[in-house]
Amino acid sequence: MDLGTTYLGMRLPHPLIVGAGPLGDELDRVRQLEDAGAAMLVLRSLYEEEITGEQIDTFLHTESHNESFAEAGSFAPDPLAALGPEEYLEHLRRVKAAVRIPVVASLNGVSPGGWISYARLLEVAGADALELHIYHAASDMTLDAAEVERRALGIVREVKSSLRIPVAVKLAPLLTAFAHFAKGLDGAGADGLVLFTRFHRIDIDVEELEVVRSLPLSDSSELPLRLRGVAALAGRVRASLAITGGVHSGLDVIKATMSGAHATQLVSALLRHGPGHLRTVRREVETWMAEHEWSSLDEMRGNMSLERLPDPAAYERANFRMALR
Ligand SMILES: Cc1cc2nc3c(=O)[nH]c(=O)nc-3n(C[C@H](O)[C@H](O)[C@H](O)COP(=O)(O)O)c2cc1C
Repeated sequence: MDLGTTYLGMRLPHPLIVGAGPLGDELDRVRQLEDAGAAMLVLRSLYEEEITGEQIDTFLHTESHNESFAEAGSFAPDPLAALGPEEYLEHLRRVKAAVRIPVVASLNGVSPGGWISYARLLEVAGADALELHIYHAASDMTLDAAEVERRALGIVREVKSSLRIPVAVKLAPLLTAFAHFAKGLDGAGADGLVLFTRFHRIDIDVEELEVVRSLPLSDSSELPLRLRGVAALAGRVRASLAITGGVHSGLDVIKATMSGAHATQLVSALLRHGPGHLRTVRREVETWMAEHEWSSLDEMRGNMSLERLPDPAAYERANFRMALR
């Protein structure tokens, strides 16, 4: 049975990738993930603000991961976990020396500027690919959608022009014209598109009058939004496609593949159950394929994509009407 896939131009034995986050923080765990069969590892992001030295927002990179594997439900910000640019490069070098699987560095930023040149340093430090997370908070009333997209495309073009390694772009789900933008990124040279960013949860503490941020772990209910996004792009862009968000089981991987994904990234599932969960998911994929007489994921890939479905409205709003009848 062939689970092989090609993602970012690299042939991988199967599509199970460790997604960006704290799982790549410690060398011991990185080795455990490789031993458990991870096909690729994405490191946590280095943030534009860290490179430019601006006051840093307590975003995703600052969670404590002390609760990993202890059925942790969410992660609270812990500013001590932040890695500065120099430490990030050093960590990348050490991870590369510790494992043989491809290691992907992650850069998170939104504005055009000098931080982008850092991508080249990540390449020199040994990254096999770069995941570019262009995060836009969408609360700026002076920026229209066209300008937001124009800037993002500019960042991708600039990064691509300075690197030899492949570049994947991680997208947010909240885009006005998602498929059009994805096509633009494809044209700008993105080698991969990663769907979709999961936002941290904002709540209000009404007693302390504070904004409280947390990052609850996902479950499979977050997958359908990604299936729909990938299904809309599969076969229509040159870039390879990855799903991040809600991949927890073998069945999730099968669905992702049918939608058209070349790779599936796991974070919450591995934080909850530990690296050994990669083996479980892989076994589930193999069992399902054997039971349903599939011999390779390549032949399954995209068979439920928009392009291949006889009814192009299958993923669209028309379906709500049908469901409500
Ligand atoms: C604790 C934690 C830290 C994360 N840190 C990053 C990060 O540094 N950069 C990034 O692009 N995504 C980060 N993410 C998002 C994950 O890469 C992933 O996109 C998201 O969790 C959805 O996948 P999942 O359902 O498998 O958890 C983080 C997620 C978690 C739970």
